[in-house]
Amino acid sequence: MRYGRSFLVCALLASRAVCQEIWDIWQTTWDESELLTYFQPTPDPITFGSPGTIGAADIVVDDTQVYQTVWGFGASLTDSSALLLNNLKTQNPTNYWALLDYLFNATDGANSAGFTYLRVPLGATDFSASRKFYSFDDVSGDTSLTDFNIDNVPDYVFRTIYDIQSINSYLRVHVVPWSPPAWMKTTGTMDGGDLDTNYISTYANYLLKCLQGFQIKNIVPFAISIQNEPENSDATYPSCYMPVSVEAQIGTALRTLMDDNGFSGVRLIGYEHNWNDAGGYPVQLMQQAESAFAGVAFHCYAGDVQNQSDFYNAYPNKEIYFTECSGTIGSDWWSDIKVSNFDTIRFKLVLMFCQWYMDNLFITGITYHAQSGLMWNLALNGSGLPKLPGTDSCGGAGCRGVAQVNSNGTWSVNQEFYAMGQASKAILPRDVNGPWGQRIGVSVGGELNWALIVGAYVTGRVSPTDWLRYSLVVLNWADTSNGNWDPQPVQTTIEFRDMQATYTFPVGVTTLWWYAVNESSSAAPVDNAIHFDTRSVRP
Ligand SMILES: *[C@@H]1O[C@H](CO)[C@@H](O)[C@H](O)[C@H]1NC(C)=O
Ligand SMILES: *[C@@H]1O[C@H](CO)[C@@H](O)[C@H](O)[C@H]1NC(C)=O
Ligand SMILES: *[C@@H]1O[C@H](CO)[C@@H](O)[C@H](O)[C@H]1NC(C)=O
Ligand SMILES: *[C@@H]1O[C@H](CO)[C@@H](O)[C@H](O)[C@H]1NC(C)=O
Ligand SMILES: *[C@@H]1O[C@H](CO)[C@@H](O)[C@H](O)[C@H]1NC(C)=O
Repeated sequence: MRYGRSFLVCALLASRAVCQEIWDIWQTTWDESELLTYFQPTPDPITFGSPGTIGAADIVVDDTQVYQTVWGFGASLTDSSALLLNNLKTQNPTNYWALLDYLFNATDGANSAGFTYLRVPLGATDFSASRKFYSFDDVSGDTSLTDFNIDNVPDYVFRTIYDIQSINSYLRVHVVPWSPPAWMKTTGTMDGGDLDTNYISTYANYLLKCLQGFQIKNIVPFAISIQNEPENSDATYPSCYMPVSVEAQIGTALRTLMDDNGFSGVRLIGYEHNWNDAGGYPVQLMQQAESAFAGVAFHCYAGDVQNQSDFYNAYPNKEIYFTECSGTIGSDWWSDIKVSNFDTIRFKLVLMFCQWYMDNLFITGITYHAQSGLMWNLALNGSGLPKLPGTDSCGGAGCRGVAQVNSNGTWSVNQEFYAMGQASKAILPRDVNGPWGQRIGVSVGGELNWALIVGAYVTGRVSPTDWLRYSLVVLNWADTSNGNWDPQPVQTTIEFRDMQATYTFPVGVTTLWWYAVNESSSAAPVDNAIHFDTRSVRP
């Protein structure tokens, strides 16, 4: 029905631009009345027509500016998350598969967040519930690594990855250790301390064996990082202080080992720590070992998202990943999703947790060059547990998982799910195994331009005659006037290729898209090139 009508209009008018219409909208509103809810504009699609007066806000899309590819959103599959998911699978398989589907089904148009990026710790972390301080070779002095054993990880970790892969064939696994084996460290423990620099090459070999171990398990990682949070040493959980020069030496050795052993396609990522040192550690790392590293990863617990530019400006050809931030149990659902006022941001930085996802991470983080957006634990229970016994990590109210898994075999998803899901919908491939979304130029004008934070993306097609998908992720945070709660929908014009569409964005997050011909392609678009989504309409 839908397809038929647009086909007819386009065929009759024989104009490229006329068919630019918005048929698909995903929305999460401040009052939770819409929760990554799909709907179509009624009674008609939103049409791009001749430009008129601009709205209260005016989104100007510039598709001549094409930036980085976005590889997706997700979280870390800690041992704790895998344990809870595994328990759920035993207790209530129907609920387990429904949760995995809601998190990971990346089929275009699926009722799911379609997460595609999974960070997996190599060894114990502060969220290892059942085994304290394990690595993959805990035999002291085993410099030939003959006792290396990938099965030291609880078996439910690999089983959970397989289950996720059975739903999502795009899944990108990014592995990262929290600490080298205890015997390679000056302290002789995994909890805190430094790598003994006599073991630099042993440790590079250990990391190669980690990649080989994953490969034997039929999981070829997308990326490997050398050390989680190398500027943090904490005596209550696996962690390791690692100066730039040490990470640079390990990276140089590991890159060669990877290239010599069939892992030349795996990215080596450095840093994995907070924004506040973006112009320091990661820049120095590139100065010392630029050719070894594909890029660096950032966490949110200190500094500002803008600091990603400190690194980008120094090394614009290196990649940037955003790999960790955590919500805190008990914080406000909507405040977490939107932009906060600056006082709140300062306050939250003191708490060392970031709670302003769309502005800081999942729209603006991408604007500041990130190719991923991840939260910390994929799943925890309602108390932010289980975690490593005795750790001081996630003290106070506790860390919140993206999903909450309860001991009675039920689950729910938290604000992190909706924030990332809205962003994920904009960049998933339109075609099976087709291109991923790329960020494009966008700016916001109009009287209420402050009310909207916008990301814009283009998703390419497998066939050069198929129309490209253009997506917007729009946060409207105009919820207060004169200090009083007063959520205001913002009547907005969208400018694209000298055409204009109008939509009123409610307070919340909206993802929408339209299709348009690839103006750089010489392939003549044919009538059947218009691939509107033909899935059945959900209520
Ligand atoms: C993913 O979603 C699609 C579309 O809703 C559905 O057809 C498919 O069965 C789902 N896949 C899995 C593995 O659940
Ligand atoms: C981080 O970014 C903020 C905002 O742009 C800036 O004020 C601050 O100086 C930056 N910090 C560093 C260490 O560059
Ligand atoms: C979370 O799990 C811990 C055990 O790890 C348990 O003591 C606690 O009661 C659980 N909390 C909830 C809300 O289920
Ligand atoms: C299961 O546990 C959760 C969290 O404690 C609770 O909110 C929910 O009502 C429980 N459901 C059932 C069916 O007992
Ligand atoms: C548009 O077509 C050109 C030429 O074929 C191609 O290089 C470009 O990648 C296409 N754009 C997108 C976003 O796929």
